[in-house]
Amino acid sequence: MTIRLIIACDHGGLELKETLKQALSESNVSLIDLGVHTSGSVDYPDLTHRLADKLTAGEADLGLLICGTGIGVSITANRHRGVRAALCTNSYMAKMSREHNDANVLCLGGRVVGAALGEEIVRTFLSSTFRGGRHSQRVSKIELR
Ligand code: RB5
Repeated sequence: MTIRLIIACDHGGLELKETLKQALSESNVSLIDLGVHTSGSVDYPDLTHRLADKLTAGEADLGLLICGTGIGVSITANRHRGVRAALCTNSYMAKMSREHNDANVLCLGGRVVGAALGEEIVRTFLSSTFRGGRHSQRVSKIELR
């Protein structure tokens, strides 16, 4: 099954985004790249809101956001109803974010994780699935407030 993955970054995540795009080019991933494509300074909330709007509109299955630390994009993405963005610095977090939290957006720090670790985290995120069961009730409570 092909996964529609929508990705975006700011200038702090550009290098990692390009590396990951290359790494995923021969996988079962259909990429929608919202940019940025150049290294000029931008405001991470702008691209994050754009990605979140498209994801919640059903234009993609999962999202990947990259800024310098991953913090700004994760805070912003989680302001959107229906978005569960997980900032991950290792594969275990990526696996758990899908299996327990049904995360639909992975956030990475381009200045925090290197290319190899970033690729491992993304592949783990994409290949993990929500476990449901007791976790469904917990996830359903996230949106109540
Ligand atoms: C940009 O310098 C940096 O602040 C941004 O990429 C991100 O790390 C914010 O959380």
